[in-house]
Amino acid sequence: MSASHDYQRVYVWEQPVRWFHWINALAITVLGVTGYLIAHPPAFMISREASFSYWFGTVRFVHFTTAYVLMVNFVVRLYWSFAGNKYANWRSFFPLTRAQLRQIWDVLKVDILQFSNKPVETLGHNSMAYFTYTATGLLTIFQIVTGFALYAPTSAAWFPHLFTWVVPLFGSEYTLRIFHYAAMWLFALFTIIHVYLVFYHDYVEGHGVISSMVGGWKFLEKDQIEAEQATGMSPLPSRKPDPKPAAKLKPSG
Ligand code: HEM
Repeated sequence: MSASHDYQRVYVWEQPVRWFHWINALAITVLGVTGYLIAHPPAFMISREASFSYWFGTVRFVHFTTAYVLMVNFVVRLYWSFAGNKYANWRSFFPLTRAQLRQIWDVLKVDILQFSNKPVETLGHNSMAYFTYTATGLLTIFQIVTGFALYAPTSAAWFPHLFTWVVPLFGSEYTLRIFHYAAMWLFALFTIIHVYLVFYHDYVEGHGVISSMVGGWKFLEKDQIEAEQATGMSPLPSRKPDPKPAAKLKPSG
């Protein structure tokens, strides 16, 4: 029989973070699939009139439209990193204090190097995760800038033309395309590791990590919450108190 735990339910991820996450995940999946098709167009042999087989144009249309969705969603999340709660705050995404760097090492010891099996308990993301999300944020900016630069010659809209200066930086459109394509694989790599890790942490730690990105709530033992807050990592300068007070839960068994 397992010991009884004094869990507290804490509201961590506000609506804009959750909406950002799932729109971002969907947009990256759609962009990855349509981008791959644009890079490797399959040759469909059909006997119908050519004007009925505009599927490649549709694939490109979906790719470009989703790129706008990705960009707007990202801009809203940037705004929320100033307006949202402490877990969504931009400062957490730059884990540079000694305590945060130590936490990165502690996470690496558990998740990658397997030197230790002592889980790192946090309410927001752990410092290693924040660091990785900063890297994906930079990769998102890179994809937006390079993608719109590639789109500009075939678009009559003004927005993509803001990025025409990017092509000379890379020497040619051909080289730019290779970088844009390679970054897509980095997203694929991130997604595989990310999804594996969130399921792993959800299963091993039992804090409801996955459902927290749906409902916003995480579960942590009371003493762990106090210990985490004592590290000085969680209580970043916050503009407002946690919107909903922690509710006490006492699971049996
Ligand atoms: C089935 C697919 C996915 C699941 C179940 C999932 C789940 C999660 C969970 C539970 C978190 C919070 C983890 C923590 O507390 O540290 C998170 C954060 C995050 N995930 Fe995912 N994820 C998925 C797909 C993706 C994809 C495809 C991307 C983008 C390539 C992505 C990007 C992110 C980012 C950027 C964050 C940080 C959110 C923020 O703080 O604004 N996720 N994800």
